[in-house]
Amino acid sequence: MSKKEVASRQTTINAQPRIHQHAQEIQAYGTVSHALPLDLEEPVRLEMTEQLNQLLADTMTLRDLYKKSHWQVTGPTFYQLHLLFDKHFNEQVEIVDGIAERIQLLGGVSIAMAADVAETTRIQRPPRGREEVPVQLSRLLEAHQIIIGQCRTLAARASEIGDDGTNDLVVSDVLRANELQVWFLSEHLVEMPLVHAQEPAVRKAS
Ligand SMILES: [Fe+2]
Repeated sequence: MSKKEVASRQTTINAQPRIHQHAQEIQAYGTVSHALPLDLEEPVRLEMTEQLNQLLADTMTLRDLYKKSHWQVTGPTFYQLHLLFDKHFNEQVEIVDGIAERIQLLGGVSIAMAADVAETTRIQRPPRGREEVPVQLSRLLEAHQIIIGQCRTLAARASEIGDDGTNDLVVSDVLRANELQVWFLSEHLVEMPLVHAQEPAVRKAS
């Protein structure tokens, strides 16, 4: 095949995937697109997306803490907690998506990657190793408490500055789900006899 034929054949091949492409990012983190027909001013969307990203980083951390707990749990309550932790994990996955997409629709940029989440979250980093059930439950409850506290502040602020959609998302989807999960966890930390009921006299003396 002549050089000319090779060249002409190469120009007709256009099914080659164009891999290894790089370019500058199209929107910087911490910014919002200028003109969106949402009837929400740019400063409102900037403030809301910043606070929602904090909520997102904490929720992603809680989500992962649930999977860690699901994998590493042990002891007599293994099976029920193994299932419960995974149920809560799946619910947190939905919440994460809801928060992230709210940030995007407000014109912002959602935090996404583990390293960025780790730098942003206020939830304490757990050890890599396994911990006892009461410690696992305490860590999860502390994480919920941080998120619930932020939900209340963020919901009030969203309402104050006219972002009703964010207020609704935070109250209806994030706050309520977290409150319910706290209840399910907390009930496992009540001291209850497993086989023998405690005699009234014994209970009084203790
Ligand atoms: Fe699993």
